[in-house]
Amino acid sequence: KKPAGAPDPKLARPVGKVGVVGAGLMASQLALVFARQLKVPVVLTDLDEARVAKGVAWVHGEIAKLREKGRLSDGAAQRLTANVTGTTDSAAAFADADLVIEAVFEELSVKQDVFRTVEKVVREDCVLMTNTSSLSVTAMASVLEHPERLVGFHFFNPVAVMPLVEVVRTTGATPTDDVTLATAFAVGKGLRKSCVLVQDAPAFVVNRLLTRFMSEASVVVDEGTPVEVAEAALDSLGLPMSNFELLGLVGPAVALHVAESLHAAFPERFPVSANLRRIVEAGLPGVYEKGTRTLTEAA
Ligand code: CAA
Repeated sequence: KKPAGAPDPKLARPVGKVGVVGAGLMASQLALVFARQLKVPVVLTDLDEARVAKGVAWVHGEIAKLREKGRLSDGAAQRLTANVTGTTDSAAAFADADLVIEAVFEELSVKQDVFRTVEKVVREDCVLMTNTSSLSVTAMASVLEHPERLVGFHFFNPVAVMPLVEVVRTTGATPTDDVTLATAFAVGKGLRKSCVLVQDAPAFVVNRLLTRFMSEASVVVDEGTPVEVAEAALDSLGLPMSNFELLGLVGPAVALHVAESLHAAFPERFPVSANLRRIVEAGLPGVYEKGTRTLTEAA
């Protein structure tokens, strides 16, 4: 069945090579899922050789684990490993890419710079995607000569497991065109994800709901409830992991970016937890993990 709002699937362009801008937590997971499910070459790029090498090594390590678990044959693991490469030279890497997706730092100006650079080196028919969780895709498209080829394509953590992708059509004078949108849905199908078409609104749909819930748990702790008590209460809801574990998985910095974007858009509904802000500023990534200190002690 065609997802609601998806254009004619026949419009989709074939994707034979993928470029990923960034080699961090999300970007590396994206490289793996694209290479594994679409069975195409994927090239990662980042600012320096060390970041590129770290991202590629992570992907190759995950492939080795899948082979050890018997989920990939030796041959498939070898082919997959060869298909995931990295470089700092995006001009060479992306010249023949059919699709380039970015998963760099969640800052509009950084992402706009990425797209300005990428558009100079890709073919005219290359589809561009952003994995942003909360920024305006339309604002990113505004710096492009061909804004109609940009689409939001938002995955969730862990990428290999979470079934949903939010597909974001831009608005404005030259919105995402049907060819780009159809390609996004076809790629989502190839990745075995369920795609939903969402509006280009702050934090789209899932993160808007999730952030309300996660922020409130942090604010409860801000107000003096120990993390362990909040976690025990949350356990009773039967969630796969507590808000605080989830924050560790997503990364407090990303969660703070989403909370701040939503606070800017809807100040009354989305408070930003003072502890979350202090934890990010102090660079304490693991503080929300189960069995660790309370947020107040950490702050
Ligand atoms: N990478 C790949 N596979 C993973 C994985 C990872 N990081 N973590 C778990 N898995 C796989 C396991 O291998 C296992 O697969 P099999 O069943 O095929 O063996 C399966 O997932 C279940 O894992 P476990 O039994 O070890 O653990 P679990 O049952 O507790 O599930 C979980 C782990 C799927 C992560 C679950 O805890 C969960 O769903 N948590 C909530 C995740 C969530 O809400 N994510 C959204 C975050 S918001 C976000 O990402 C948005 C944003 O933009 C900021």
